[in-house]
Amino acid sequence: MRNFQLTRRAVLAGMGASALTARAGGAATAPTLLTAQVAKAQIAPEGYPQTEVWSYDGTLPGPELRVAQGVRLQRRFVNKLAVPSSVHWHGIRIDNAMDGVAGLTQDAVPPGQTFDYDFRVPDAGTYWYHAHTKSMEQVARGLSGALIVEEPEAPDVDRDEVLLLDDWLLDPDTAQLEPDFTHPMDLSHGGRFGNLVGTNGHYALTLTAKRHERLRLRLINAANARIFVLRLTGLSGWQVALDGMPLPAPEAIPEELVLAPAQRVDLIVDVTSDGAEAAIERLGNDQQWQRQVGFAISGEASRTRRDPPAVLPPNPNMDPPDLTQARPLEMKIEGGAMGRMSRNRMQALMQSGNFWTLAGQAGMGDTPFAKLSQGEPVRLRFVNDTAFPHAMHLHGMHFRELREDGSLGPMRDTVLTIPGRSHEIAFTADNPGKWLLHCHMLAHAAAGMTSWIKVA
Ligand code: C2O
Ligand code: CU
Repeated sequence: MRNFQLTRRAVLAGMGASALTARAGGAATAPTLLTAQVAKAQIAPEGYPQTEVWSYDGTLPGPELRVAQGVRLQRRFVNKLAVPSSVHWHGIRIDNAMDGVAGLTQDAVPPGQTFDYDFRVPDAGTYWYHAHTKSMEQVARGLSGALIVEEPEAPDVDRDEVLLLDDWLLDPDTAQLEPDFTHPMDLSHGGRFGNLVGTNGHYALTLTAKRHERLRLRLINAANARIFVLRLTGLSGWQVALDGMPLPAPEAIPEELVLAPAQRVDLIVDVTSDGAEAAIERLGNDQQWQRQVGFAISGEASRTRRDPPAVLPPNPNMDPPDLTQARPLEMKIEGGAMGRMSRNRMQALMQSGNFWTLAGQAGMGDTPFAKLSQGEPVRLRFVNDTAFPHAMHLHGMHFRELREDGSLGPMRDTVLTIPGRSHEIAFTADNPGKWLLHCHMLAHAAAGMTSWIKVA
């Protein structure tokens, strides 16, 4: 008996052929929908009831959207929820009008109405989409999914797996989501943490794998506040992309892989375990390693280990910013519990329903933090003067961290800032529009840590 294995490329080629045939029929194609709706999902272990969630297309997480680099992605967003919503395409260097930020780039879509998202995806890589209207609640309720943009030449791997890491705050008796999304303790401390951690909508995900199989793992941190600290057992390999953008060369996977909210990492790993399993493990609050994703091993993909993977093809427009011309900006991050903000300022801030400020201001405000001219290089220093880490995310453009030795790091869209430290990023303001700049600990964003810049 011979085994036939369809490669992803063959499958895609086949799909392309059938799509062509269909188009030749000449019928006007109906828009592809992405529907926000209430659904049920078995997040908790068997035996527990299903959890009522808010979902895209009825699944948790939302459907994996996979498109080829450079194409137009079109989705008619249909809001079947009882509250307004909108969709943000995290990490896509997108046309500003399609960025999905309610109150900045569009009005939230009222219940029963639709919005047509239509944009080009310039960059290959691992991205994600999520609600950007009252995100703290809507993302926690389940409104997120993976958006994968494929390289024209896929790297040589046996399988490509998306792992969307999340946590949920569930009532341990009913397995329903804890409905208080604005608890002052969450807003003023680390954010809303779940009591059940899982992957792809399940508390315990186990995949199968063959020995010596080569996997591309696309990890996405979709949690509201949790910073994942991960390690691999029985798998070894390279990290090849961060926040969607290919690294200049594959790098050894750090002993402990830190993934802040909204960050992504692409790994290419070989299944090297001698035993029956391999795993991605997560450092728990108790400092014990716990299983995040398991791999049950059966069979052999090949006898020997392979050469390191080739470097991923670069995306367009990855030139480093011209630091000699860069305009320096500083954004001080203040507030929160156990911070150094004066009692008077803190009290005034809390009066306005906030706990945090960015550059002295709580919330978006009418004027941007900075007005940049298109093409202008910028260096922006975040000074984290709080007692908590913050995952600062810029919409519309990727940046590079300016390291202490003056060198520029890889391109990212979210940087984890550490209490008491400052982190400088640099980018070229080449995408016109109004771009949000906020903490991706979503409770922090809701309690003041949301700002924006204007590029024109
Ligand atoms: Cu995932 Cu405003 O971002
Ligand atoms: Cu924060």
